[in-house]
Amino acid sequence: MDGNGRWAKKRALPRAVGHQRGVEAVRRLVRALEPTGLECLTLYAFSSENWKRPDEEVDDLMNLMRRFIRSDLPEFVANKVKLKIIGDWQSLAPDIVAMLEDALAQTANGNQTLAVALNYGAQHEIARAAAKAAASGAVSIETIAAHLDTADLPPLDLLIRTSGEIRLSNFLLWQAAYAEMIFVDTLWPDFEPAHLMQALDDFARRERRYGGR
Ligand code: FPP
Repeated sequence: MDGNGRWAKKRALPRAVGHQRGVEAVRRLVRALEPTGLECLTLYAFSSENWKRPDEEVDDLMNLMRRFIRSDLPEFVANKVKLKIIGDWQSLAPDIVAMLEDALAQTANGNQTLAVALNYGAQHEIARAAAKAAASGAVSIETIAAHLDTADLPPLDLLIRTSGEIRLSNFLLWQAAYAEMIFVDTLWPDFEPAHLMQALDDFARRERRYGGR
């Protein structure tokens, strides 16, 4: 969800406002999820490297998370949106962990998954999964995949990065092995459901060969 800072800077607004508008973009997308038929939408909300940001910005992001869960959870339940969290989220502030656990329980019967990556880094995720696979005595593609945070999610088909950045920044590195990628210049706060529909249209026209011919 890249570009919140630049969105704010362009308007001479504090970065926090960019993040607030970023949350509104999340809300619009979640509300538009049903007719897309998507099984899962995963959002990169906070990386394990984001702790390097100034304390004030980290606090702003954590508070936005608290407010978002509090305000939007009833809508998730009503719309059958199932929340999933990936990353090392158990080490976040205890009140956030408790809120998330409650949100996971309340949305467990949902049909479409909104996965949120929190305190997430793909290299950490792969290392953790490989260690678990090794402890089970069998290291293979299948056993590592079975221990990834995404083990119960469908395969990653499409990865969209906003704001003109063309790199993966430690997001879903394993899962992206055969994902289609779309890079758009749109800054995250300006990302509308129509941008998602356009990306899904582009995706539908891609020919996927998985190394075959
Ligand atoms: C990247 O923009 C965005 C983030 C690091 C934070 C995204 C988090 C939220 C929108 C808040 C909470 C999320 C949910 C799911 C409620 P940037 O700050 O790196 O922007 P820049 O690249 O323009 O500086």
